[in-house]
Amino acid sequence: MNFVLESGDILSSSANCIVIGVQQSQPLTGSSLTADKSTEGLINELISSDDFKGKKGETLTLHRPTGLSTDRLILIGLGSDELSESSYIAAVTAAASAVKTTPATSAALFLSEVDVTGRDNNWKAQQQVIAIETAHYVFDELKSEKAPKATLESIAIHSSDTNAEELPKAQAVAKGMSLTKTLGNLPGNVCTPTYLAEQALELETKSSKLNVTILEESDMEKLGMGSLLSVSQGSDQPAKLIVMQYTNDGDNQPNVLVGKGITFDTGGISLKPGAGMDEMKWDMCGAASVFGTMQAIIDIEPKANIICVAVAAENMPSGNATKPGDIVTTMSGQTVEILNTDAEGRLVLCDALTYVEKFNPKSVIDIATLTGACVVALGHHPSAVYSNDEELSKTIVESGLKAWDRVWPMPMWDEYQEELDSNFADMANIGSRWGGSITAACFLSRFTKKYKWAHLDIAGTAWHSGGKKKGSSGRPVPLLVDYLLTQA
Ligand code: BES
Ligand code: MN
Ligand code: ZN
Repeated sequence: MNFVLESGDILSSSANCIVIGVQQSQPLTGSSLTADKSTEGLINELISSDDFKGKKGETLTLHRPTGLSTDRLILIGLGSDELSESSYIAAVTAAASAVKTTPATSAALFLSEVDVTGRDNNWKAQQQVIAIETAHYVFDELKSEKAPKATLESIAIHSSDTNAEELPKAQAVAKGMSLTKTLGNLPGNVCTPTYLAEQALELETKSSKLNVTILEESDMEKLGMGSLLSVSQGSDQPAKLIVMQYTNDGDNQPNVLVGKGITFDTGGISLKPGAGMDEMKWDMCGAASVFGTMQAIIDIEPKANIICVAVAAENMPSGNATKPGDIVTTMSGQTVEILNTDAEGRLVLCDALTYVEKFNPKSVIDIATLTGACVVALGHHPSAVYSNDEELSKTIVESGLKAWDRVWPMPMWDEYQEELDSNFADMANIGSRWGGSITAACFLSRFTKKYKWAHLDIAGTAWHSGGKKKGSSGRPVPLLVDYLLTQA
């Protein structure tokens, strides 16, 4: 898809589909007024006849309206109040799907003229690009009948005061989200740790600034990663520690991302109940998000050093699987009593977090579908953020707001830390029944003392469950890209 910035009005556009916003119960302004004037009052007529009210979520496609040279005019209802970020995104999402249902090959969006509380035209342009790309995302690789090919080729974002680089940047983010979604949507029998390693090598061929290293189980053994290996030992699929190094800033300290990549989480011997277990194919969404972020970074090419690590393993029950009560030694030397083999994410992450010390990182962020408890605490809107550094936490919260990929800060108090006490090892891998997202973060904090660290629990945000929307969300790629660019 080709995006361009344009500044003319709707009469100057040669697109065969024009999209304008219409406010409810307000006099027409801007493009809706121009459209009305050129069509001898058609828009006002539609409003007074109640055929189109301008309500939020309402759309109407007019075919070859007399007075305009375009083939289609799409009206998007904006409601009567100034738009919040969420309502603006809902409006551009509605616009994107309305455009997609037409056979138009070119579209012009006049949706930057709408006021959004506290947001400028750069932000609006980003959201328009992401909405169009998101509407066109398909995952039909495993269907016999493929989705019809999209007709839309070029999109003009009509906007003044938008920086030219916003469009390619937003496109890079969207492309990254798309990779993240596809890796997440692929089932566990396709997307194995080995498959993820191959995807990293594939990514490596796309940029001379990217260098990929894959650590095998034999390497992990040498490094003393007893905790990571205890998770994969019940599986026939070997674990992989995938290291993607983007170097474009001499030998300055890198910012590091570490993603949880459990390509399927059965729970192991602490087996999960059957209902909805298929969703645990998405337990590698943390890893998928670091792939997507790296995809965006190699397109944007910031002057920065960035290392993305995906720690990939499958959590299975078998004759060789870890048993509740087993004690393992982590790469850090600390021992862990595994009271529940379903708390495996922290077991793979802790060794990866020790491993990345060797990069002398400026910051480390791990991203993980770590706990069901996080979904209980925060639902599906924000990811949880934990950090050992107040400033880092604030920066991440801010990036989340900017990218509209929000996170909410959570505590890691000593009282929670005590829940990890074990009679037989340095710590247990689970706390009590309550506050499970917090005790999981507390566990990780014991392996991240040597650098500035934050942990994102994305269990509630990485995918949509059930129904037609079932599938990966592509989050938190927008947040991570924004964070890395603010650091560059
Ligand atoms: N991958 C799950 C967490 C999860 C569950 C994410 C449901 C999204 C939806 C994780 O490995 C897990 O099983 N966590 C346990 C921890 C518990 C055993 C302390 C959980 O959340 O139940
Ligand atoms: Mn689990
Ligand atoms: Zn898991």
